[in-house]
Amino acid sequence: MTEVMANVAVPNDVRNKGFKTWLNEVVELCKPDAVRFCDGSQEEYDELCELMVQSGTFKRLNPKKRPNSYLAWSDPSDVARVEDRTFICSRRKQDAGPTNNWVDPKEMKQTLTKLYDGSMRGRTLYVVPFSMGPIGSPISKIGIELTDSPYVVVNMKIMTRMGRKVWEVLGEDGEYVKCLHSLGAPLLEGQKDVPWPCNPKEKYIVHFPEERLIWSYGSGYGGNALLGKKCFALRIASVMGRDEGWLAEHMLIMGAESPEGEKTFVAAAFPSACGKTNFAMLVPPKELSGWKITTIGDDIAWIKPDENGELRAINPEAGFFGVAPGTSYSTNPNMMEAIKANTIFTNVALTPDGDVWWEGMDGEPPAECLDWQGQKWTPQIAKETGRTAAHPNARFTVAATQCPVIDKDWENPEGVPISAFIFGGRRASNVPLVYQAVNWNFGVYLAATIGSEMTAAAFGKIGQVRRDPFAMLPFCGYHMGDYFNHWLQIGRSVPVPPRIFGVNWFRKDENGKFIWPGFGENMRVLKWIIDRVRGKASAIESPLGWMPRYEDIDLRGLNLSKAQFNKLMEVDREAWKQEILSHEELFEKLYDRLPKEFILMRELILSSLWRSPEKWELIHERYVEEAN
Ligand code: OXD
Ligand code: MN
Repeated sequence: MTEVMANVAVPNDVRNKGFKTWLNEVVELCKPDAVRFCDGSQEEYDELCELMVQSGTFKRLNPKKRPNSYLAWSDPSDVARVEDRTFICSRRKQDAGPTNNWVDPKEMKQTLTKLYDGSMRGRTLYVVPFSMGPIGSPISKIGIELTDSPYVVVNMKIMTRMGRKVWEVLGEDGEYVKCLHSLGAPLLEGQKDVPWPCNPKEKYIVHFPEERLIWSYGSGYGGNALLGKKCFALRIASVMGRDEGWLAEHMLIMGAESPEGEKTFVAAAFPSACGKTNFAMLVPPKELSGWKITTIGDDIAWIKPDENGELRAINPEAGFFGVAPGTSYSTNPNMMEAIKANTIFTNVALTPDGDVWWEGMDGEPPAECLDWQGQKWTPQIAKETGRTAAHPNARFTVAATQCPVIDKDWENPEGVPISAFIFGGRRASNVPLVYQAVNWNFGVYLAATIGSEMTAAAFGKIGQVRRDPFAMLPFCGYHMGDYFNHWLQIGRSVPVPPRIFGVNWFRKDENGKFIWPGFGENMRVLKWIIDRVRGKASAIESPLGWMPRYEDIDLRGLNLSKAQFNKLMEVDREAWKQEILSHEELFEKLYDRLPKEFILMRELILSSLWRSPEKWELIHERYVEEAN
């Protein structure tokens, strides 16, 4: 350490001039007691974890059960992303678009400057340099997070490439995304800290896209605080991608190797609660056990055309921040193996033997445990009160390298070539198991109009569809209409764009039971998709696109009759007409920037439903009449 400014000793490898100015401003404003430059080492991680064990933020789990693992319980006010407190403060309101919250950036900065003033008193400001994507990859980008939360530091160490090497890449005048994060919980002289400091009253997750700047205040949880994830890698990066000709997407990336040794990579987008992480790590059924699935990422993909115009993808993250409830050896054995050690758990239950538990884990629930708020929990209490032991949004944070099926190319700086994009939602009716868009433009239309049905009373009207274009509604940093245009433009600019598919694992029969078994069996659908991409699988044409017949898809060993398959695939003409007409609701909202192609494509689909009844009837006959 040679340089001293504002009482801050700056390590020699920090040479970026702009950074020093920014740090000075933040120190002056937030008034932390100390500043610590994080080096990303294991020693630093261990030391900070120990510090949090001492402060009560972390409980060390039983090393015989979960070596080197910790549990944190958050404040009940701070358990999830806060979409209503998330803002895209572009200079012009119309650039944020009608699907984002917007406030004039000057006004927002005034509001937040007041809140940040002294917000780090009594705490240490940690300087966290990180790379999204392999350090030095042409697709990667650098960020620096200034945070007063050691919980954020250790999670960022797992979720990103964090540490000293980043300064080298940044040099004197490299570009980076500025990420400022404060818990909004200053400590007065002599005031005792709480285990999960945050600001229960005020939270702001704010993006200034033109400045590549993020200001987060009041929350210490997940995507609100680990600013490399949703804030940078999706909201800010989507704007960078628009400006620079690439894509930042809410997508998993997986590899599939056929028994003949042919490898294909696909990327897939699903709204939350549709099993993205499980799909990314699926274990093929025994009839298809010659296939090998490998994982590159489970949540975010950055996709860029290479010099030949091939779309190549990287996972900008280095870890998984997965939802714990529902994760088990039957839904995701690879993830269960990954989280056996070196994992941070947040808001799951603590068992008497010092291990973790959540709803949906294999085996019987524990006879007794402490729930995520530290209260006694038993199956009887759950029955009487409906209380869950783990919070429904409880998480684990684990390094990608711990995943037993991590792809050998997951850190390839060039990324992997994407052959297909898959889009899906949760639809009990109407939408078939799988269909292929006839071309890129129709695929973009398909992705823009995917939706999920709302479930049970909590979400309002059952069966009502919420559109979540590209599963990006909460994550697109600019106008959704411009985003659709950007996708169309990418298709025009690459010689052979990937094929685009729609899937729906969630179709139900008349008794409300899922028809398709899902999980590992989704390999059968993936195989058809890959075979289509490689020109090896048949399909029939329909107004929705190309669809497999019973004989086109490998259903060996699966107890699924032709009638059941046809039920999965049937599309009722009147219902589809209503489906297409219902896209109007989304289109109306985005109308001023909606691609004109969308209007034409919608008309074309409608007219093929109305004017080519013979063709439609043929499909109908194939899927509906045989099913009944
Ligand atoms: C996530 C999300 O946490 O999509 O990945 O909400
Ligand atoms: Mn996500």
